[in-house]
Amino acid sequence: MINLPAWTALNTHREAIGDLHLRDLFDADLARFDKFSLHLDDMLFDFSKNRLTEETISLLMDLARARDLEGQRDAMFGGEPINTTEDRAALHMALRAGSAGKFKTLDGEVNAQVSSVLTRIAQFVEAVHSGTKTGATGKPLTDVINIGIGGSHLGPEMVTRALAPYHQPDLSVHFVANVDGHDLATTLVGLDPETTLFVVVSKSFTTQETMTNALSAHAWLTQALGDDAVADHFVAISTNSETVEAFGIDPANMFEFWDWVGGRFSLWSAVGLSIALAVGMENFHSLLRGARQMDEHFRTAPLEENLPVMMGLVGIWNINFLNHDTLAVLPYDQRLDRLPAFLQQLDMESNGKSVSRSGADIEMATAPIVFGEPGTNGQHAFYQLLHQGPKITPADFIAVAEPAHGLPVHHDQLLANVLAQTEALMKGRTLVEADGNPHRQFSGNRPSNTIFLRHLDPLILGMLIALYEHKTFVQGAIWDINSFDQWGVELGKELAGPILARIEGDDNGETPDSSTAGLLAQLEIWREQ
Ligand code: F6P
Repeated sequence: MINLPAWTALNTHREAIGDLHLRDLFDADLARFDKFSLHLDDMLFDFSKNRLTEETISLLMDLARARDLEGQRDAMFGGEPINTTEDRAALHMALRAGSAGKFKTLDGEVNAQVSSVLTRIAQFVEAVHSGTKTGATGKPLTDVINIGIGGSHLGPEMVTRALAPYHQPDLSVHFVANVDGHDLATTLVGLDPETTLFVVVSKSFTTQETMTNALSAHAWLTQALGDDAVADHFVAISTNSETVEAFGIDPANMFEFWDWVGGRFSLWSAVGLSIALAVGMENFHSLLRGARQMDEHFRTAPLEENLPVMMGLVGIWNINFLNHDTLAVLPYDQRLDRLPAFLQQLDMESNGKSVSRSGADIEMATAPIVFGEPGTNGQHAFYQLLHQGPKITPADFIAVAEPAHGLPVHHDQLLANVLAQTEALMKGRTLVEADGNPHRQFSGNRPSNTIFLRHLDPLILGMLIALYEHKTFVQGAIWDINSFDQWGVELGKELAGPILARIEGDDNGETPDSSTAGLLAQLEIWREQ
């Protein structure tokens, strides 16, 4: 890759524009915003506050073409098994394609399967909302607990929280992910087994955390209502009907999805059942429609006008050429408080890899370290480093023009803050402007994107999530990464087995390293005291 002429050209260009300051770029060109921003319906993507010029964009487009980004994108949409280590397609777009969808994997057409599961979901959601579907004792269901982790948790939770103004009355949706018993125990406090529904979500239905939580939930329910109540209080979302049945959930209470849906891309499938229960089927369909709009845009818009392509390439410029290997995700909307956590998995599990698709070493930085908090809270915590730390951290600011509350004073302040932050990062304050006081000087020249949304409804949220999904794909395509596997999570899972055996008192004959042995010994001492 680093020998590609397009890559070398970008390196040379970086040296040529290395000293330019964003402040000067804005002063020199009053049309800078027009040149470096893109619109799609009620979404505006402003990337003008990045350290780049028209030539940078043109060279990044050369790189995209040299990496056959369009061909790679078409292979994904064409259902080719681009997840090569698992020999699977990555067709999350089929989940939101609607009736006009024409998606195929090597095993055949998938749209009929998608629409049949969506119909079952709609019937189930309607039955819960109307009270036709009750608990075992005939009472209406008032609480839903989604048990799942990673992709089976972060997307549904993030979307459910983001769409709080659309929540159904009389039904609360909770999320339990962590194997730490505090998570389940705290969630169950005050809940009534007679009116609680558990939605157990696991693509594999073997994930230790989810199975442990589901078993404890099962015990909580059956202690109160007996074994026969399970059928009325547990549903499963999985690709694996055998393990669902082995767990004790009737496959009739299972909603299926497929191995061509990656966990972190799965909220659009039956994995989104908790979302649909929270906001209703019409809003769930709007979410799918928004994502579909972004899919169509990504598939058809010229590279230069394509939001996910531009966002991905600007990220490549920051990461690989300006050497900024972190990314702050800063939603100025409390409803998006779980977006940074969702994007951590999307970006870092997809592209946090050091080998290419062929298994060769990738000789460059890949996925950025993603972190973030909603604004303005973060301003009073870690923004000090963003403004004056020696490490430069590019940031995605996300702002929403029209709030869903009736407190306009708050919203004006919120918007003023987000705009001020991006301006401060860009401009900085010179030593002269700081009256010679170095503590009050800001270097500025710190890159950021602003994603400005007219409002936060299900449709725009669908667009926003799909924008990030495709951005992640674009970057993986440039780095020659398989963005759809996650082998890096396996080693820790494997090592946990023998350690658990030791914690439970079974000395399995293996000698752990001295640190692990020392920590285990301390645990034993404390437990014995
Ligand atoms: O540990 C990583 C992972 O495999 C994620 O990729 C996935 O989203 C999560 O675990 C949960 O997996 P499952 O849905 O199979 O329980």
